[in-house]
Amino acid sequence: MPNLSFELFGIRFKNPVWVASGTFGYGLEAREIYDVSRLGAVVTKGLSLRPRGGNEPPRIVETPCGMLNSIGLQNPGVEKFMLEIYPEIEKIDTYFIANIFGETEEEYVEVCLTLESAKKIVAYELNVSCPNVKKGGIAFGHDPVALGSLVESIKKCIKKPLLVKLSPNVTDVTEFAKVCVESGADGLVLINTLVGMVIDIERERPDLSTKTGGLSGPAILPIAVRMIWETFEKLGNRVPIIGVGGITTERDALQHIYAGASAVQVGTANFYDPLSPLKVIEGIEKFMESKGIKNFTDLVGRAHRLDVKA
Ligand SMILES: Cc1cc2nc3c(=O)[nH]c(=O)nc-3n(C[C@H](O)[C@H](O)[C@H](O)COP(=O)(O)O)c2cc1C
Repeated sequence: MPNLSFELFGIRFKNPVWVASGTFGYGLEAREIYDVSRLGAVVTKGLSLRPRGGNEPPRIVETPCGMLNSIGLQNPGVEKFMLEIYPEIEKIDTYFIANIFGETEEEYVEVCLTLESAKKIVAYELNVSCPNVKKGGIAFGHDPVALGSLVESIKKCIKKPLLVKLSPNVTDVTEFAKVCVESGADGLVLINTLVGMVIDIERERPDLSTKTGGLSGPAILPIAVRMIWETFEKLGNRVPIIGVGGITTERDALQHIYAGASAVQVGTANFYDPLSPLKVIEGIEKFMESKGIKNFTDLVGRAHRLDVKA
């Protein structure tokens, strides 16, 4: 049998298939459908210092090969999460990664500190697509100086590994990846959603209450693969890259992995095929068997090692 387990930050994950933030809640609802402990890891919905109600509806709209959302980072706040949700998470036999965000550096740090004692949470994933209120609202992830400073400030205060989830809404994602690595990030997650808009021509206005939203789903697969490829080319093995964006099947996941991802996350696919993460795990296993590849890690970045001719 091929070996899908691998080590990252001194932690042995049972497989490289995780579920993406915001598409799987806190991992509790899916227990009614399947055994969540089969997943390599669960990334939680974004957590902030204070509870947030999110944006007004409509905040989801279907697009060709994807969806646009403007949920607005709705969540109960990190303290309520620790009191009411975390004890349930502790019963699930897989690792959790807390996706976190804030409007200031101090808020990000406080959220992490509240989670430091939670053993089941093995790493933080920073959502940096949030407006920095101290810098006029420009997202942390769109301002390399603010991004570097954020990563440094958090790293000083925490013991768990820090992953930074990059925004694709920039000209050169590799510049931001480099800043994160030089500021001490332990890993990178590529990519968050792309800003898009849908107009309802009957109502003669944008569909979403916020006008624009984040595009996700199969439509963004080639963009995610390209950004992982470019980042891997630039940074090589300096830090692991986690791939997310447009993954529904094992073939999609394998594109991320061949481009340089050490693990992948399934996002929007959870909404239209809740079993897709399990199918991806089984599909990767079968693919490895058919190719005679024993260890999953041999697949990572493989397309860079081949002599690719146009
Ligand atoms: C409804 C919804 C909510 C999301 N919430 C978050 C979030 O709280 N934090 C975050 O970093 N990303 C969030 N994302 C982005 C996803 O984690 C993922 O990066 C993105 O959807 C691309 O992957 P996909 O094409 O497989 O969905 C959300 C995406 C969707 C569709």
